[in-house]
Amino acid sequence: MKPETKILKDRFGRVHDYVRISVTDKCNLRCVYCMPEEGLPFFPDDKVLSGHEIIQMVENFAAMGVKKIRLTGGEPLLRQDIEEIITGIAEIPEIEDISVTTNGLALVKKAEKLYQAGLNRLNISLDTFDPVSYKTMTRGGQLQRVLNGIEVASQLPFDKIKINTVIINGQNDHEMVDFLKYSIDHDVNVRFIEFMPISQENKADWAKQYMGIEQVFDICDMQGWKVEAIDLAGNGPSDNYKIIGGKGSFGLIHPISCNFCESCNRLRVTADGCVKSCLYWDEEDSVREEIADFSAFEEKIQTILGTKPENHEMALAEADKVKDKKPTWRHMSQIGG
Ligand code: 5AD
Ligand code: SF4
Repeated sequence: MKPETKILKDRFGRVHDYVRISVTDKCNLRCVYCMPEEGLPFFPDDKVLSGHEIIQMVENFAAMGVKKIRLTGGEPLLRQDIEEIITGIAEIPEIEDISVTTNGLALVKKAEKLYQAGLNRLNISLDTFDPVSYKTMTRGGQLQRVLNGIEVASQLPFDKIKINTVIINGQNDHEMVDFLKYSIDHDVNVRFIEFMPISQENKADWAKQYMGIEQVFDICDMQGWKVEAIDLAGNGPSDNYKIIGGKGSFGLIHPISCNFCESCNRLRVTADGCVKSCLYWDEEDSVREEIADFSAFEEKIQTILGTKPENHEMALAEADKVKDKKPTWRHMSQIGG
């Protein structure tokens, strides 16, 4: 008889079949919404999970019902063994989908190798089409390298490429129309993401820079573009739409203005081997010691899942309206987005 397939369910009945693993906290950019300008002290090498540990951990998760893995960073392509990690995960039969979130800078060199290793999908961060603004928003990045990387990745048979675009008031909100045009001309999914207050030391700054993203519909109206809602498989928290006649699509990820927690299906693992049940709050626990012992690992994951809140209440917490819990000490680059 086939053993019963396990599923990971939290106390609110949400099934968790998706794990995001940050494989490094290092990054070659310093995006304004993710890291402080002066950078952060990176974890020493021996604090970061090895490739072998990551693969063994995914085997454990797979035996608990996980089917989707996303590798994040910092910048995951900075890891020299990224292809070996992907190959190891691709060999686990229960894993149906492996994706990477990258800033795209290394894609010209690496996209083909990633595909050969077994990568299914890519999310590429791109917040502006203006080289000067790209340099400002990423604190030093070269736009053309990312555009070339997207071009190279588009030639490979990956599943649909997603472009992650965080909208910051006064910096790139005027470019939403260009990103919509991009979704008309390219077969990609552009995801407009609201700026989240993850370890933003200065709350007043966050409040000034945050803006909702629903204005995309007014922009489409003004351009005379007709929009239809679409269902994109495996799109987690994003609501997806298509401009009729366009090649691609666009999505809205609005954790602040329109809470998506009720459909949350994910756990996050940090580069130093801690599991977080929720992006925002500080509950986390290390599972590094348990990786080689499946029952201990499973028990720990269940305990961590037990701490998962119903809702992140990010906006309320930023307004000091939630007093009994503490937001995470980690910056986004130490969680993986
Ligand atoms: N708010 C929203 N999204 C963020 N990301 C990083 N920091 C933030 C933030 N503060 C997301 C971006 C980026 C990915 C690596 O993480 O989408 O593309
Ligand atoms: Fe899930 Fe927490 Fe993210 Fe909400 S904030 S969607 S509960 S991980």
